[in-house]
Amino acid sequence: MTSDPVRLGVVGLGRAFMLMVPTFQADARVTLVAAAAPRQESRDAFEGRFGGRAYADIAEMCADPAVEAVYIATPHQMHAEHVRIAAQAGKHVLVDKPLAVSMEDADTMVAAAHAAGVHLIVGPSHSFDPPVELAARMIDSGEFGRLRMIQAFNYTDFLYRPRRPEELRTEEGGGILFSQAVHQIDVVRRLAGGMATRITAMTGAWDPARPTEGAYSALLSFASGAFASMTYSGYAHFDSDIWMDDVGELGQIKSPGAYGKARRALEGLAPEDETRLKQTRTFGSGAALIEAAHNEHFGPVIALCDRADLRLTPDGVEVFGDFERRFVPAPTDPAPRRTVIDALVNAVRHDSAPPQTGAWGRASLEICHAILASAETGQPVDLKRQCGIPAKE
Ligand SMILES: NC(=O)c1ccc[n+]([C@@H]2O[C@H](COP(=O)([O-])OP(=O)(O)OC[C@H]3O[C@@H](n4cnc5c(N)ncnc54)[C@H](O)[C@@H]3O)[C@@H](O)[C@H]2O)c1
Repeated sequence: MTSDPVRLGVVGLGRAFMLMVPTFQADARVTLVAAAAPRQESRDAFEGRFGGRAYADIAEMCADPAVEAVYIATPHQMHAEHVRIAAQAGKHVLVDKPLAVSMEDADTMVAAAHAAGVHLIVGPSHSFDPPVELAARMIDSGEFGRLRMIQAFNYTDFLYRPRRPEELRTEEGGGILFSQAVHQIDVVRRLAGGMATRITAMTGAWDPARPTEGAYSALLSFASGAFASMTYSGYAHFDSDIWMDDVGELGQIKSPGAYGKARRALEGLAPEDETRLKQTRTFGSGAALIEAAHNEHFGPVIALCDRADLRLTPDGVEVFGDFERRFVPAPTDPAPRRTVIDALVNAVRHDSAPPQTGAWGRASLEICHAILASAETGQPVDLKRQCGIPAKE
C-alpha cells in the first residue's frame, strides 16, 4: 500500500543525522521538509541538499505546518526539551537513542507524547537491525522451543572516537552506558521480549584522560526465566568485528590497515580541538557517507533456545540445530535503516506503534542506570520500569 511520504523535520544535523542520510535519500516513504540547527553552515547544507526550510530554532520549525513528524538527533541532554516542544506542537516524534539521560526526563517525555496524542519512537537503535528482527521472529515462532540464554558482546573503539567534553562525563550522559549499552540492552530485550527483572553488573573506567565508563559486564534476567550476559569494551584494542566477518557496526567492510586509527587521531589533541574534529564528521562538513554492503550490527550475539542456538551475523541468522546447521538470510536494503522508516510510517500513517516506544526507551534507560548502580553497590538491582512488546493485531 502506498501513501504520501511522511513529511519530516530534523532537529540536529550532526553525526547521528549523517548516519541517517543514506536512508532518507533511498526511502521515498519519507521526505525531509525542514531542519533546525544552530550552525548556519549546516542549515545551508541542508537546504542545498534537501530543499525545504532550515530554522535556527526548533520551536519555529515545529510551528511549520509542512512538518508532520520530527526526528530529534541532538545531544542526549537536549532530548527531553526537544521532544516536549515537538509533541506539544502535535508532531509525531522519532528521537535518537537514548531516550534521555535521567529517568525523570524519560517520564516527562512519555507523558508529553501521551498528552499530545502523538507517537514517540526511540530510534534508530540496533534493535531495528534486520537480523535482530529476524531472530526475534524466529524465537517468537516457537520453532526452537523456549529462549533460555543470550550472550551479547562488543569490543569497539567507541571511547576514542572524537567527543564533545560532556560525552566523557557520566553524569551528563557520557561514556559507554548511555550511548552504547543502550543498544545492546535494546537488542537483548528485543530478543527476550522486553520484560527484564534484575541485573548484576560491573563497570570499568580505566583511562584517567577519558574518565568515564569504557567497559562493563552484566547479567540480566527476564520474567520468562531467560537470562542474558552482556559485555562491552570501547577501549579500542580488541575489535570484535573480526568475528562479524570484518563487517563494521554500520554494515561497512572494515579495512585491517585501519587498526589504531581512532587512538592515533586523538593523540595530542586539546578538548576544543577534539570537539572540532567531531564536527568534521557531521552533516555539511564534507564528511563521506558510510557505504553499507551488509546490515548494521552490534557485535556477536548468540541466542540459545531448547532446540537450537541462533547466531546473528550481519547478513542473517545462523541456526545450529540438533542435527544440522542452516543459514536464514536477512536481506539488505538500499535504505540501510529501512526498518526505522517502517516504524515511522506505520506510526504516522497507520497509527501502529513499533516495540521501541517511549516506554520501551525508558525501560532500556532504566537498565543503563541499574548497571551503574549495581557496579557501585556490588548488589543486584531489581528493575521496576520494564515493558514488553505489544502483540500485533
Ligand atoms: N543511532 C545511532 O547510530 C547514533 C549515532 C550517533 C549518535 N546518536 C545519537 O544522536 C544524538 C546526537 O549525537 P551526535 O553524535 O550526532 O552529536 P553531534 O554533536 O555530532 O550532533 C548534535 C547536533 O545537534 C546540534 N544542536 C545542538 N543544539 C541544538 C539545538 N538547540 N537545536 C538544534 N540542533 C542543535 C549540534 O549543532 C550538532 O550538529 C545522541 O543522542 C546520540 O546518542 C545515535
